[in-house]
Amino acid sequence: MATFSSWENRLPWIQYPLIVNAPMSGVATSQLATAVTRAGGLGQIGHLDDMCVLSKELDRARNDLQDIMATLPDPDQLPLGLGVIVFGSPLESWMRLFATYKPAVAWLSFAGTMEMKTWAESIRRASPKTSIWVQLGSVHAALDAAQACRPEALVLQGSDAGGHGHQAGASIISLVPETADAIQKQWLTTPLIAAGGIMDGRAAAAALTLGASGLVMGTRFLGAVEAHIPQIYRDAIFSASDGGQSTARSRVFDEIWGPNFWPTTYDGRCLRNRFYEMYTNGKDIKTVRAWLSAAMNGPEAGDLDVQDTGSLWAGTGVGMVNVLENAGDIVRSIRDDTKARTRIN
Ligand SMILES: Cc1cc2nc3c(=O)[nH]c(=O)nc-3n(C[C@H](O)[C@H](O)[C@H](O)COP(=O)(O)O)c2cc1C
Repeated sequence: MATFSSWENRLPWIQYPLIVNAPMSGVATSQLATAVTRAGGLGQIGHLDDMCVLSKELDRARNDLQDIMATLPDPDQLPLGLGVIVFGSPLESWMRLFATYKPAVAWLSFAGTMEMKTWAESIRRASPKTSIWVQLGSVHAALDAAQACRPEALVLQGSDAGGHGHQAGASIISLVPETADAIQKQWLTTPLIAAGGIMDGRAAAAALTLGASGLVMGTRFLGAVEAHIPQIYRDAIFSASDGGQSTARSRVFDEIWGPNFWPTTYDGRCLRNRFYEMYTNGKDIKTVRAWLSAAMNGPEAGDLDVQDTGSLWAGTGVGMVNVLENAGDIVRSIRDDTKARTRIN
């Protein structure tokens, strides 16, 4: 397990335990990321395809965080993480971004080991002080990445997680300890960060007990004021309960919109909806797409439930996200509760 002092060197503004917002594409913008960093966590900005928009987000964050940056050993470093969905992303453009903004963490997800290695090496050249974190969903993939990329942390994404992840996955309850043992057997000391299903201090304390050195939350932050999501999406999150029933993992949530570019390793967890039910009940994807198109363009389009016409990414913990809160309050309350439960100061 990484000690607090090892985070202190790389992320000096962090308070124990390390709490991180997932770099949710389109949802985790500078507003959410700066609020989490200000509360003593690691705020992260999610992947965007549009480099202009992303640069503006990073500029905004840099402006907002000037006071914290002035206290860092390297005042040029942006006290945030930046998420990259690696497959299909243009390496050169991203390297310009890393060299310009020098985020404290580069969060790499969704690619094979060799591609991750190329990205890790390129980021280290473009911004040598940026820590490399790689998100993975299996023991095998985690070991491969630890050996090939030598990341500063491995993020272990369990199958409860909202959004995209490994189709063949396990929950963090077995993924984290088995990976911790496997890493140790290889004489590696890579810190592990747990993601997937963590909603409160109980789960956070459990994740630390399992061998994680920090915790990531995505779904919990969908209830944050600073999350960039439409109100109808947030309302659907607040109304959902019993996440094992109300969410599902499937590739249909990408396939419904046309050709699915996601590698077959991955599917995604969303709120269950009409097109998911049709697909799992045996309708082929063309029929399901035709239904959705007719429904959205038909006279009753306005009466359709947003859940049935969109892929609303959410994890199994969705039933515990019921109220609108400031991101900073989420970080502080989970931190205090986790500390009380683990009796660590
Ligand atoms: C709305 C949403 C969007 C997400 N987008 C991304 C993304 O762009 N990149 C990524 O690596 N993970 C993404 N994830 C997955 C998270 O990184 C993380 O693994 C997950 O949120 C953790 O599980 P939890 O949602 O139960 O907290 C997303 C998750 C959600 C809920």
